[in-house]
Amino acid sequence: MVDDKENLSIDDIANFCKRKGFVFRSSEIYGGFSGFWDYGPLGAELYNNIKNDYWKFFVHEKENMVGIDASIISHPRTWKASGHLANFSDVAVICKKCKNATKVDKSEVGKLKCEKCGGEFEVQGEFNLMFKTNVGALKAGEAYLRGETAQGMFMNFKLVQETSRKQLPFGIAQIGKCFRNEIAPRDFLFRVREFDIGEFEFFIHPEEIKCDLLEDKHLNLKLRLLDAETQEKNKDTLKETTIGKMLKEKRMDEWHGYWLAEQLLWFTKLGLIDKIKVREHMKSELSHYSSATFDMDFEYPFGSKEIAGNANRGQYDLTQHMKESGQSLELYDEKSKKKVVPRVIEPTFGIGRIFLALLCNGYYHDKKRDNIIMKFPAYLSPIKVAVLPIVKEDKIISLSKKIVADLREDWNIAYDESGSIGRRYSRNDEIGTPMCIAVDEESLKDKTVTIRDRDSTKQVKIKISEINDVVRKVVRGENLLKLGKLVETRVKEE
Ligand code: GAP
Repeated sequence: MVDDKENLSIDDIANFCKRKGFVFRSSEIYGGFSGFWDYGPLGAELYNNIKNDYWKFFVHEKENMVGIDASIISHPRTWKASGHLANFSDVAVICKKCKNATKVDKSEVGKLKCEKCGGEFEVQGEFNLMFKTNVGALKAGEAYLRGETAQGMFMNFKLVQETSRKQLPFGIAQIGKCFRNEIAPRDFLFRVREFDIGEFEFFIHPEEIKCDLLEDKHLNLKLRLLDAETQEKNKDTLKETTIGKMLKEKRMDEWHGYWLAEQLLWFTKLGLIDKIKVREHMKSELSHYSSATFDMDFEYPFGSKEIAGNANRGQYDLTQHMKESGQSLELYDEKSKKKVVPRVIEPTFGIGRIFLALLCNGYYHDKKRDNIIMKFPAYLSPIKVAVLPIVKEDKIISLSKKIVADLREDWNIAYDESGSIGRRYSRNDEIGTPMCIAVDEESLKDKTVTIRDRDSTKQVKIKISEINDVVRKVVRGENLLKLGKLVETRVKEE
């Protein structure tokens, strides 16, 4: 068990995930398969909760957004048009001193030293990251697993606009599996070969520069920025700034600023914002499709690394698909009475990287309790409530099971009657269950239970008829300790 969060390593997190059933190596019985991982029972719950919250925050709660679910394999010409076949590659390098094999971005060749020993890199070659596959039996059936979900939104842009009757500006969102034949997968879930991206393409009239959705909460949003000028001088000093100041400095346009702010607001909701910095891309490192990009980097145990991005893709993709397909992807603009090709802002998140960040952020070794407490926000916890009968007595078990059945209609619930109550509490603390309900003799008499709070271990007494309401409030972020009467000694933790 790691005593000190400062010394928490990515291997500690990986071992914890395996021990508790969050994540396993893919194909473990064959010795694993590099770059591929399986989410176990608790991991799948947490992963789905992240995806559902992404959808809620960016699709359901926004007026101008719709979602799609496009196929993973699309016509191979997709990737010719998008530029991925020509440009989506990394350079494999090996350290001349310690033989550490890794990859660098094309723009980094000759500039980076080995992160393990500071030695010089020798270039091994350039490798395209697209995964090839074959559709049907013929050689002509060569195709690719998608490297990003974005192309599904571009190709369906016109159909989505027509069927959902959206007017510019509007966005199309998607969450889905992507595949990249990474040269050097590493750092557990951080750099893998199969992962989910949650991203959207936001389509704007090409001449529209004002964003009417910008509010004070966006403009005044504080952030730590590593700007392009600083990096060009080989420095890494962060600046405290706001979205409003970045707009004044013309680092981005208003829509770009609005979506960057919304991304940071989601990170605030996820409880990760304190460990996020924004990094502006230097001109030399921009992707082939982008004219301005900002990464959001999270402080993982192995360094501050990209968790999300935000690119100004302009008219690049729609124009490329129009050229390659011969089809029009223009929209008729009522105001100017002209057909226009919209420009695009693309906010993107790696779902596995968010999952990893939540684990690193939530992991806490409480020395007094001699236990790990996984401090997930309640709404993301894999299990919302554990129901624990204090003694194995028929009437108590039957009441406990009734409480479980009621709660199961809305939440993922655990029922546990084995071992001491203290042991059952700590098992639940370790996997981040925010509330444990203890059912005892008093419950039979006065129709009340105690609910124990994971982080403080304090207990409140509430009526059985109020359980559903209290659980709903805590999942929404209210403090359990304010929702019932504090009781000190009803259930002893032993
Ligand atoms: N459509 C834009 C796009 O795909 P990207 O920065 O290449 O942009 C999006 O990828 C996000 O996917 C990144 O911000 C990162 O969080 C995640 N990601 C990228 N490569 C990854 C990998 N090999 N393993 C896990 N996540 C990855």
